[in-house]
Amino acid sequence: MAAAQGAPGAVDLKRGEELLAKNCGQCHAVGRTGDSPRPDAPAFRVLGQRYPIDSLEESLGEGIMSGHPDMPEISFESDDVGAIIDYLKSIQAKR
Ligand code: HEC
Repeated sequence: MAAAQGAPGAVDLKRGEELLAKNCGQCHAVGRTGDSPRPDAPAFRVLGQRYPIDSLEESLGEGIMSGHPDMPEISFESDDVGAIIDYLKSIQAKR
């Protein structure tokens, strides 16, 4: 991990964003703005208002998550999970 606290590298953030856009973007709004293509799928920038982003780490690594309609079975390598978590943290809407 880089020395800068709480400031993950731009490369990692970009990678996290790309992974989410590719795997999740057909239903979820991935970025800081915009509506989810699927209205019942929450925009990723508001997930942190429901629960800590860190709590997603396990579901991402082990295959995503119960209670998820029409979801493809997806699991990510631990490096990728880190990039995704960092990205999600970086876009959370301020309350
Ligand atoms: C085929 C459409 C689809 C895809 C692809 C998809 N999702 Fe979802 N996702 C949904 C829907 C619909 C919901 C809302 C489920 C509900 O609240 O009943 C949801 C909910 C969620 C939630 C909130 C769950 C909760 O308990 O509040 C998270 C987190 C999530 N998705 C993450 C992801 C991630 C990460 C990916 C990509 C790896 C992804 N989703 C891909 C449709 C999708």
